[in-house]
Amino acid sequence: MSKFIVNGGNSLEGLVKINGAKNAALPIIAATLLADTPSNLKDIPILRDVTNLCEIIRRMGADVKQSGHSVEIDPRSLNTYETDKELAKKLRASYYILGVMLAKNGEARTSLPGGCNIGNRPIDLHLKGFKALGADVSLNHGIVELKANKLIGDKIYLDYPSVGASINIMLAASMAEGKTIIENAAREPELVDLANFLTVMGAKIKGAGTDIIKIEGVDSLEGREHRIIPDRIEAGTFMIAAALTRGDVFVKNVLTEHIKSLIAKLHEMGLEIKEEISGVRVSGNGRLDSVDVKTLPYPGFPTDLQSQIMVLLTQTDGTSIIKETVWENRFMHVDELKRMGADITIDGHSALIRASNLSGAEVTVTDLRAGAALVLAALIGEGSSEIRKIHHVERGYEGIEEKLYGLGADIKRVE
Ligand code: EPZ
Repeated sequence: MSKFIVNGGNSLEGLVKINGAKNAALPIIAATLLADTPSNLKDIPILRDVTNLCEIIRRMGADVKQSGHSVEIDPRSLNTYETDKELAKKLRASYYILGVMLAKNGEARTSLPGGCNIGNRPIDLHLKGFKALGADVSLNHGIVELKANKLIGDKIYLDYPSVGASINIMLAASMAEGKTIIENAAREPELVDLANFLTVMGAKIKGAGTDIIKIEGVDSLEGREHRIIPDRIEAGTFMIAAALTRGDVFVKNVLTEHIKSLIAKLHEMGLEIKEEISGVRVSGNGRLDSVDVKTLPYPGFPTDLQSQIMVLLTQTDGTSIIKETVWENRFMHVDELKRMGADITIDGHSALIRASNLSGAEVTVTDLRAGAALVLAALIGEGSSEIRKIHHVERGYEGIEEKLYGLGADIKRVE
């Protein structure tokens, strides 16, 4: 099994280029199956989740050609509405096949999705949406099955602005009869990227990026070319790495309007952030002020950057509080950070972070963003760290060790 060996203490300097967003690429790959003709996707990150989703749709009969960061998908040879059971369990986003196949075929079947172990992760809101559109839903022994003679648009209020449920309902409604209105919808940029792709395919969608999305179903969609938006979470992780190591890094290929909540927090802590057209420069070598952070749906502070900013908060002068409101079990990195000397106390959904000096240790990754936090901590830990189970990290960061090495970190991947 692979691991990272990191010798902490180097300041990061230089330029790092951010890849396309994983969480936009996944639903957009699924959406290509709605079309009658091939699509060509650009800036697709090369990640295990992406490869697994491509393999799922390949096994469903689609012709999928991956070449570097481009993926060409021809859905004309699709021959089943069912996903491979074992592969589908490997990633959360396999559930987007449900919305797509229901719209295209009136039938869909998949195993309950996997993904990071960060909470209960129910899909009740997805199923509520499919039912409202007229689908019969059955859930037996971990297999979800959907059937509908015809999907008919409806008004759907989401109890919580779930990203996955909003996306899945949008996918299904894009080819339903009549109008669907999703109220209290998610506003995440990745959802907007999907809506933009669906729109160029011929879908009629209004309001993506607001909490009310209106979809007028159409009879058919055409494959198109599309470039995926930059990954705001990868960008945020490198911005925090620059701040943490008291470095000076230009993070290229970032849409700064997508990370306003992080920029605001870094400013509040006393860091220097320069926003430019093609990216953002982060530098800082003074003392850092403590701040409180509360994770929220977009445009609030992203839960996917919670573990990373926690590491930065160990380096401030005072005490900070992080409140995690999105996931119920997203403090699993805390025990590992404590092994590195972090002074953190958990109280329910809140973490109290006090100033501490970190030192190298042997630590184990429990989920994707927890892994990113451990890599960051190792960059400033005194001495050497060994980070195990890095396959979790590789689900969301393409070549993280090469990028950090390029900025001056002492990091290597060992088999
Ligand atoms: C997406 O997950 C992302 N994953 C997650 O990123 C991210 O943490 C999350 O959105 C929030 O931003 C992908 O895009 C593939 P949700 P998703 O549905 O869609 C509850 C990463 O690190 N909920 O918005 O699964 C749920 O339990 C990953 O890249 C229900 O109760 O998130 C959670 O508490 C991890 N019922 C909250 O909503 C439902 O039917 C947010 O979930 C669905 C969700």
